[in-house]
Amino acid sequence: MAAILITNIKQLVNVREQWQVLRGKELAQLPCISNAYLLIEDDTIVSYGTMEQLASANEAVPTEIIDATGKLVLPTWCDSHTHLVFAASRENEFIDKLKGLSYAEIAARGGGILNSARKLNEVTEDELFNLAWKRLDELMRLGTGAIEIKSGYGLTVPGELKMLRVIKKLRGSAKVTIKATFLGAHTYPVEYKDDHAAYIDLIINEMLPVIGREQLADYIDVFCETGFFSPAETEMICKAGMQYGLKPKIHANQLNLSGGVQTGVALGAVSVDHLETMDEGAIKTLAGSSTIGTLLPTAAFFLRMPFQPARALIDAGCAIALASDFNPGSSPSGNMNLVVNMSCIQMKMLPEEAINAATLNGAWAMECADQLGSISVGKKANLIITKPVPSLAYLPYAFGSNLIEQVIIGGERL
Ligand code: NIG
Ligand code: FE
Repeated sequence: MAAILITNIKQLVNVREQWQVLRGKELAQLPCISNAYLLIEDDTIVSYGTMEQLASANEAVPTEIIDATGKLVLPTWCDSHTHLVFAASRENEFIDKLKGLSYAEIAARGGGILNSARKLNEVTEDELFNLAWKRLDELMRLGTGAIEIKSGYGLTVPGELKMLRVIKKLRGSAKVTIKATFLGAHTYPVEYKDDHAAYIDLIINEMLPVIGREQLADYIDVFCETGFFSPAETEMICKAGMQYGLKPKIHANQLNLSGGVQTGVALGAVSVDHLETMDEGAIKTLAGSSTIGTLLPTAAFFLRMPFQPARALIDAGCAIALASDFNPGSSPSGNMNLVVNMSCIQMKMLPEEAINAATLNGAWAMECADQLGSISVGKKANLIITKPVPSLAYLPYAFGSNLIEQVIIGGERL
């Protein structure tokens, strides 16, 4: 049995015997142990404590010792909302936007989600897998140890299935935990522009039965937004997905007060994501529910939108998570360190709140908190070891530096 002992840890971060979802004021409580040790056997955390406790403990002889003097050890990031599988980047649209073109003008030139969909339908499953694998490898080195990945750039039966099969293959090959979400309802393909019912019919009667049969997804997502899918359409599609055991996890209130939050909560969604545009009613509805609100600050940043009202959500008692929304259109970065930094700098979250939201609550937002999201005996040994840093707050403060020295996934150093 391989055993790794990490010693002299300046601070062991997010140590918990219990790991319920954190809401309101609980989010600022980040239990840590100073001058700590942590023992891993195979892929599992088996014990931890202070260095004094280690001296008197009768631990197994480690095969490897890592000295973490001056360094922090954290659970890896749990990124609960990404579109990691895509065929091509869209930096040309980025340049067009810098030159003043509007979203509508870019769309009229064949840009946006439909641009990604066209390219995705042109590449093979293997090409798509290789591209996604490289991105995933980069994110693991940036500390991501669990990730949700959506379809939604296919928008055809073969395209959507190809994406979900790529995600399934990633899940079978990668050491990180992966959850799959079916987002056939990302936008309407051009040929269904004037016949929404026919596309929804395709989703419900052509895509979902195969997805159910081949167990290609855990969740169902809909872009509930003005000009995209209405609350009524969202409800119909989610209910159809639920028949196949897919739980809703939806895009809500990004650009408008779309009613997405209320729709998601009424459906018992695991999470409602984005939330750039919130009013008192939406906040109250979310606070009174068990649905997690997932904030995607890098998408707000990239689109130059107002950031999500994190403080109002926390004060109202909502359970919030942080995720990257990694995608070629609105967040071409899956770097969760940047997400944490931006949450503190732009949304005034405290470092403790941001770390909890990007670890434990992120794990809850993809239903893997029994395995990940905190330093707990029996959980998976997915860990970040930082470079020597003066304190925890230094992580979001020194936003431009890569402060990760080493990442351990499933008990193995990357
Ligand atoms: O989450 N909002 C909808 N979907 C993506 C962006 C899609 C794209 O432009 O490719 C998002 O931001
Ligand atoms: Fe998204």
